[in-house]
Amino acid sequence: MANKMWGGRFANSPDKIMEIINSSIHFDIRLALQDIQGSIAHAKMLGEVSIITKKESEKIITGLNEIRKEIENGNFKTSVELEDIHMNIESRLNELIGDLSGKLHTGRSRNDQVATDIKLYLREKINYITELINTYQKTLSLNALKYYDTIMPGFTHLQSAQPITFGHHLLAYVELAERDKGRFTDCLQRLDECPLGAAALAGTSYPIDRFMTASILGFKKPMANSLDAVSSRDLLLETLSVIAITAINLSRFAEELVLWSSTEFNYIKLSDKYTSGSSIMPQKRNPDAAELVRAKSGRTIGSLITLFTVLKGLPLAYSKDMQEDKEALFDSIDTIEISLLALIGMVGDMKPNIEKMQSASKEGFSIATDIADMLVIKIGIPFREAHNIVGKMVALAEKNNTYLDKLDPKEIITIDKRIPNDIMSLITIDNMVLNKTSYGGTSPHEVLKRANEWVERLS
Ligand code: ARG
Repeated sequence: MANKMWGGRFANSPDKIMEIINSSIHFDIRLALQDIQGSIAHAKMLGEVSIITKKESEKIITGLNEIRKEIENGNFKTSVELEDIHMNIESRLNELIGDLSGKLHTGRSRNDQVATDIKLYLREKINYITELINTYQKTLSLNALKYYDTIMPGFTHLQSAQPITFGHHLLAYVELAERDKGRFTDCLQRLDECPLGAAALAGTSYPIDRFMTASILGFKKPMANSLDAVSSRDLLLETLSVIAITAINLSRFAEELVLWSSTEFNYIKLSDKYTSGSSIMPQKRNPDAAELVRAKSGRTIGSLITLFTVLKGLPLAYSKDMQEDKEALFDSIDTIEISLLALIGMVGDMKPNIEKMQSASKEGFSIATDIADMLVIKIGIPFREAHNIVGKMVALAEKNNTYLDKLDPKEIITIDKRIPNDIMSLITIDNMVLNKTSYGGTSPHEVLKRANEWVERLS
């Protein structure tokens, strides 16, 4: 039998293979509630402007609400022959209210319908992701508040550079996440125009009220060009880009959790809840969740590339190619959600090894830059010259296999006689961190202030 939704000109039913390649119900089922929402708005408008009677409109809406309940209760049955979510719902409506269901599709097409569904879905998801980022930031900030003066090594080139505080390090990710959140918020602004009523591509001759449907669905206004409304997927590209950027940012933190929790670093302990053992090596406690956050970021880039490639060179207006936008979008959304949830869990449960961080802060001649700064302050030489002197001190310490603060003052003086002999007593790891009071610097005083600000702002 030919398709009952559009089978008029078809004598034969589609081949099985055609059905498989063409159907999208196994993934666009995710848009079921948004599709109902869009259809209710459309039916309401059709009644208000008397394209159908108020009574018909009400009957259609009652039927749609019944289907909504079926979807919510998991009782909604779908079939591949009906291709996609739009036709599955319309067909069910037909079963419930009979031929009147055929009036719902007046003045609209699946093309504006699907574009509207996606936008409704995106809006919900972006709001949810933004909430998750907020929770992630809050969890980081609370830890920053707790460990605002916990000293740890700061790295450049993954080599011990200068000591910092753990709180400062965590707050770096809070700042980064804030920009991610801002990018999602930007997406929402451009998302705020409704495609519904663009119909197949040209608009419609029915006296529909697109401003009404836009407003019912919570959009600021309808999209101004019917071709653009049904054929553009740039907002998906934008959201996928923002998701990819966020995922990459998360993957950097995940990598640090992997490093920090290794036996070699031993800066933190991740809880049992987010680690796993090895089936062969009994001693292992693997940071699987962090590794997966790191790895899954790749999927988000994959999805972005998928959609870029689908859209490249597509003429206006709708082409079936666009059906391929959804799996990429859904996968990216799932990925960013689970990554954020996993990080929230890991950060909430992790325990820093304060002694190890503190002692590691002395490694790698991390006080060298501060000695140079002290020479500038105490004997008034240019920084470049001080840098050179301390470089020689490092070479000496390396030769003697010792730390800078264990160097013999008599030997130090041979490098440059202007070096004050109490220089080392002036510099301690604690002081080095304490005196980084420049705006945005790592001094505990600064970090405490920032952490408090963030906790307040995020709650
Ligand atoms: N399932 C389709 C999609 O996701 C809906 C639009 C179909 N439109 C059409 N003209 N065949 O893109």
